[in-house]
Amino acid sequence: MTSPATILIVDDEKHTRDGLRLSLEDEFDVYVAGNLAEALEFLRNDQIDVMLTDLRLAGESGMDLIDQALQLPRPPLCIMMTAYGGVDTAVDAMKRGAYDFVTKPLNLDEVEILIKRALKGRTLEKENVELKKQVERKYDVEGILGQSEVMKPVIEVIEQVAPTRATVLIEGESGTGKELVARAIHNLSGRPKAKLVTVHCAALSPTVLESELFGHEKGSFTGASDKRIGRFELADGGTLFLDEIGEIDASVQVKLLRALGEQIIERVGGSKPIQVDVRVVAATNKDLAKLVQEGKFREDLFWRLRVVQIKLPTLRERKGDIPLLAEAFLRELAELNRKPCKPLSEDALHALLAYDWPGNVRELRTALEHGVVMCNAARVSQKHLPPYLTGGTGILLQKKSVGNGSGASTSSFADLNLEKMERAMIDAALQRTHDNRTEAAELLGLSRRTLQRKLRELGRVKRTVK
Ligand SMILES: Nc1ncnc2c1ncn2[C@@H]1O[C@H](COP(=O)(O)OP(=O)(O)OP(=O)(O)O)[C@@H](O)[C@H]1O
Ligand SMILES: [Mg+2]
Repeated sequence: MTSPATILIVDDEKHTRDGLRLSLEDEFDVYVAGNLAEALEFLRNDQIDVMLTDLRLAGESGMDLIDQALQLPRPPLCIMMTAYGGVDTAVDAMKRGAYDFVTKPLNLDEVEILIKRALKGRTLEKENVELKKQVERKYDVEGILGQSEVMKPVIEVIEQVAPTRATVLIEGESGTGKELVARAIHNLSGRPKAKLVTVHCAALSPTVLESELFGHEKGSFTGASDKRIGRFELADGGTLFLDEIGEIDASVQVKLLRALGEQIIERVGGSKPIQVDVRVVAATNKDLAKLVQEGKFREDLFWRLRVVQIKLPTLRERKGDIPLLAEAFLRELAELNRKPCKPLSEDALHALLAYDWPGNVRELRTALEHGVVMCNAARVSQKHLPPYLTGGTGILLQKKSVGNGSGASTSSFADLNLEKMERAMIDAALQRTHDNRTEAAELLGLSRRTLQRKLRELGRVKRTVK
């Protein structure tokens, strides 16, 4: 059971204090104070939920008390008690942040109802804050941004798999966030000696890769003048991230298989088996299953790696996330480049939504960095973005305004509300697909029915495209 709420009654007249205390103490923890100093002491030392104060406190003012109480780190809800006729002052108190007022002579039932209502409001407020936090958390897990229908399940899998020992295979085109996800899995893994060790497999020849992974003994091959500890041993107790796993040579694949299966490695040129405790996360921008079919990747290794598979969607499959990503990148890149953070103009947003992003999120980030660096105006607009975004195949949308068809396209990204963004994105999708709603829905990551509903809400059912 939760503890009762705490109420502080401040009045210079003893009989009022006692009367209120008697009527409230069955339900609440009641404190009483006769002057400002006493009241402030309670407020500073105890968590008071509701303060009920008289306006006149023998030469002191209840208004001053409310002002001071509201400055505290955890302010109470303040209710002003005022004599009949003092309503103007009470209204003034509410303007300054008081929750409500009651007039004297007091109706004790009324006071009780008022306190309960105030407390209920506060609980709801707290719940809202908590809910909002949860929602925000979902949009940003370890820096992985995404609220589109295709990203939500990905984020859920990451959260689910991270605290386990399971080997994870992350697949996705270049720039879709594979490394970011690997880091997130590691950060959320809670492995006791947590250390993330990365190996870029494609960059190394088979011999070097092997000694990089497993280490080598002194003199084991030409040039091996010293003993070397491999990445598996370095990652002991933590996570080993094998990036571009699709590129590794057959000879290394065999050794990796054993290391993954038995958690035992041998240094090159050594014969002593070494037990390790390593969680492996691998990534590839290749279709590993296809490589298996083509005989270029061992099937047994493939299954060992792909205990859990995370397929990262391309950015063009989740254009709905572009506004969210763009806003976060603009903020981050402005800080990084020591430039003021400027909002994105509508025409720039349109251009971002119309482009196909072969380089995915990385390319979006780079394009926005271009925008941040080139912009000396009040907002980052299309002309500050790299020219290839709107040139070349030159897709659409430049001067088209969003909103209800009127107004120039100059309002800023910052003052775009959700509805406006939705309009902009739906417009962009419909234009791209020449008003094919099934394709537009797909592009937006919505079902066709949801798109239809949104169009109806936006009054666009009979929309015609020029
Ligand atoms: N969902 C996302 N939210 C925020 N930033 C992202 C997201 N996905 C990718 N990024 C950012 O995009 C850039 C590229 O991501 P990352 O290096 O993880 O891609 P990758 O898939 O490993 O690419 P490659 O195959 O080329 O190595 C990074 O700056 C990363 O922070
Ligand atoms: Mg990478």
